[in-house]
Formats: sequence, C-alpha cells, structure tokens
Amino acid sequence: MPKIAYVNGLYRRHESAFVNIEDRGLQFADGVYEVIAFHDKKLIDLTDHLNRLEKSLSELSLHKPKTNTSLRLIIDQIIKRNRISSGSVYKQVTRGVAPRDFSYSSTLKPTLIVYAKRSQPFTIKSIQKRHIVISKPDIRWRRCDIKSVSLLPAVITKQSASEVGADETWMCDQEGLITEGTSSNAWIISYDKQLITRNLDFSILPGITRQRILKLARKLNIEIIERPFSINDVKTAKEAFYSSSTGPIKPVVKFNNHIIGDGKIGEITKLLIKSYMNYLDNFDVE
Ligand code: PDD
Repeated sequence: MPKIAYVNGLYRRHESAFVNIEDRGLQFADGVYEVIAFHDKKLIDLTDHLNRLEKSLSELSLHKPKTNTSLRLIIDQIIKRNRISSGSVYKQVTRGVAPRDFSYSSTLKPTLIVYAKRSQPFTIKSIQKRHIVISKPDIRWRRCDIKSVSLLPAVITKQSASEVGADETWMCDQEGLITEGTSSNAWIISYDKQLITRNLDFSILPGITRQRILKLARKLNIEIIERPFSINDVKTAKEAFYSSSTGPIKPVVKFNNHIIGDGKIGEITKLLIKSYMNYLDNFDVE
C-alpha cells in the first residue's frame, strides 16, 4: 500500500511529496516538529502535543500554519489514508521558502508536513524489554526545550550508541549531570524508592510522556524528585528507564558497562509500565 503524506495542502505518495529546495527547513533546519503516538486508533495526549508545538513555534517566532482543528483534520486524514491503527504521526513546520539568506522576512508562509508511520501496538510484553544505555557529552545548543528539527547532535550521539550495540545515549552537561536521552527523557529510581528525573529547564525537552509518567507516579504514591542526576547516580541506582512517545517506557539494565540493580527490570519500572498501559487502554479520546 502506498504511503501518503500531507505537504502544504496536498496529499501525495511519499515518493512524489516534496518541498522546495529553498525551504528553510532544508537549508537551515529552521523548523520544529512533533511526534504523536497512535495506539489502538487513539492519538495519545494529542492536546499536550499540540500545545507543545505551539510553544516551539512561538519561541522561534514561526507562524502557526493551521488552527488545531484543521491540523486535527489533516492528522485524521493521514491516519485514514494510510490505514494505520497503531504507530505515530509526524508533523513538521518550517519557516517556509525564500532565497537562501540567514535572516528572514516575517511574512514567509510556513511549510507544513504531516505523515504517519505504522508500528505494532504497545503491549506490556513489547515494552518490557531490557535496554542498554551509554553516556556521551551533550553537544546540543542551549534551547533543548524547543522541539527543533535541528537534530544533528542527537543523530551523531545516537549513532555512537548503535555502533557499540547500545539502544540509547544519555547526554551529560559540563558538570557531568545527565540532561536527557538523544530522543527521550532519562529516569532513575534509587534504592530508597525515589523516582528521579531532571527538572525542566532549557537543557531538556519537556517530554509529554515524562509529564504523563509523573502524573501516574503521583497516583501510585511514588516519591518523585525532579533534579539533575550524575553518571554516578545512575551507576548506583536500583532501576533506570527512559521515556518517549514512541517508547514509551524503556527499562535500562546496563549503563556504560555497569549493571543497574540486579540486571533485571525493576519493580517500580514494571509498575509504571502497567499503569501506563492501563492509561492507554482507558483514556478518553480528545
Ligand atoms: N523524541 N527528549 C528528546 C530530545 C526527544 O527528542 C524526545 C522525543 C523526548 C521525549 O518526548 P515525548 O515524551 O514528548 O515524546 C525527550 C521523539 C519521539 C522523536 O524525536 O522522534
């Protein structure tokens, strides 16, 4: 079945969907994006993703190309035309097309791209897999709270994980504190059962899954501490995992050749996975 994408008002097969070579997204990575998971015919945390898209757009003075209602209709069309019941929807907004020049005119018409990717639905079994993480310096810019399409540092850093057979890289700031994963938020659980994740600041993306996990953990009366943690904190943690819309909770059993806890998926991580799956199966469609 052909894959269909939406680009600037047109639904086209991927091979004939295109942007202008002078699109600022292509020339300067001058754009932002969102990835929303689609589980069992339901878009997960849609409103939160649309709100974050709006925030990223406004931080970069990018025009919003569509109202949320129109965007929602396009997303629905993409899901329908690609006959997807589980997977993810990708949306990208760039500043638009103009002769190549670093500065830009505020009158440019933004480019909007929407497409979808099919994947297996999340199940407890598919989520409960053991993952290996390494650490590398965080070489990104200083506004990682914006979901920018400028992803080269993340690409390079993730590749170093793939090359050593690891699943993700957790990046470290200059003080040796973990910021986040290349495409995920990082979490540890201490031996005294504290769930620890970095507080929101410019050095991490405010993950929608992170926010959801925090809500679920509160309901489960798990003690939460939002603070930066170090490589050593990870090594001495009982459990660890990372989260993202396409993850959503990936248990970590090995970090830089160091076994986390007893090398098995931890009890609190399992509890959070169960609770997240329960949320997915029961939330009301927005
Ligand atoms: N990435 N941190 C970074 C740097 C990310 O790129 C992502 C998501 C997250 C988790 O955010 P959320 O829970 O809202 O997905 C954290 C997406 C999945 C991607 O780039 O494909």
